Amino acid sequence: MNISDLKAVVGTNSWGSAFYGKVLRGSAVDDATLKEAIQLAVKLNLLVFDTAQDYGLGKGQKMIGELCPEEIMISAKFTPSSKHKYEYGQVRESIENDLEDFHRDYVDIYWLHLPNDIEQNLREMIQLYHEGKIRHIGISNFNLAECQRAKMILDAEHIPLYGVQNHYSLLDRTWEKNGVLDWCKENDVKFWAWAVLEEGLLVPPKKDEKFTIMKFIFERKREKLYPLYKAMHEIGKEHRISIAQVAMAYVSNKGIIPICGCRKPYQIAQLYKASQVKLSDVEIRRLERISDRLQVNILGADMFRFAVRK
Ligand SMILES: NC(=O)c1ccc[n+]([C@@H]2O[C@H](COP(=O)([O-])OP(=O)(O)OC[C@H]3O[C@@H](n4cnc5c(N)ncnc54)[C@H](OP(=O)(O)O)[C@@H]3O)[C@@H](O)[C@H]2O)c1
Repeated sequence: MNISDLKAVVGTNSWGSAFYGKVLRGSAVDDATLKEAIQLAVKLNLLVFDTAQDYGLGKGQKMIGELCPEEIMISAKFTPSSKHKYEYGQVRESIENDLEDFHRDYVDIYWLHLPNDIEQNLREMIQLYHEGKIRHIGISNFNLAECQRAKMILDAEHIPLYGVQNHYSLLDRTWEKNGVLDWCKENDVKFWAWAVLEEGLLVPPKKDEKFTIMKFIFERKREKLYPLYKAMHEIGKEHRISIAQVAMAYVSNKGIIPICGCRKPYQIAQLYKASQVKLSDVEIRRLERISDRLQVNILGADMFRFAVRK
């Protein structure tokens, strides 16, 4: 598969130990279910899986290495410290640990997870790109000025900036409103959106939902969101897709690559289908109008900006 033809990405933030799954999402998923989900992803050509060292409290990456066949392309990240100053060799040390976890010689896409020490970290990534350990370079949680700076550094070395991985969803379009999305389109840089389902908020609650951290955070926001759920339900009915799939399709239809947290086969199937659905301009405008009117506060675009060193 050519990475330029990518329609959607499988997020693996919720992969990890049974304990982690229970605390984070209220339930655990066993390896057999994950393997089934991975096989289906391969069958449907959903071949890119996104991860980072801290996912699943460190276990997520190891599971990718153990469970994913070669066809799966890996999107991984270097997370620069928000407290400590840059030290030469930190990216190399980190990617070597990652490659060990993946049982591979290279990663398909490597993202600078935060805009800390941009110049120094990118210089190391450029070196690793030349050595073949990184196939594509991306940046994550960067604002417009930081994106422009990163691109200048890479341009000088004749290396394309593959993409920007920032938060984007029907509830939070900050990076569209402040020009980052247009800048990406103008510069042929892919825009990947993380948390298109707002970690479960853009999914109606399960009837028998147990207490989880997410449930506690979402409860009151969900009440406020009913008019949006109603519109998503109606639009979904027209296209024979679920509310969650409307959230995914909305992002795809904006020319953005959705990363969706999947750990079950049905989620893979739904992500695939949603990335094929064509929403009309009227449907898109309706969803945006309601979302803008409701103004539900979420951590959203700023969730990780607190970790950007001043
Ligand atoms: N670059 C960054 O800084 C950054 C930051 C955060 C995340 N990310 C990436 O973005 C990915 C997505 O974020 P996320 O996993 O935190 O949250 P998400 O995709 O917004 O939401 C995941 C939640 O949605 C549910 N879900 C998934 N598919 C569904 C479907 N078809 N129908 C109904 N519910 C569905 C999951 O249910 P279950 O609980 O039942 O599985 C889970 O509760 C991450 O995995 C990660 O790869 C990147």
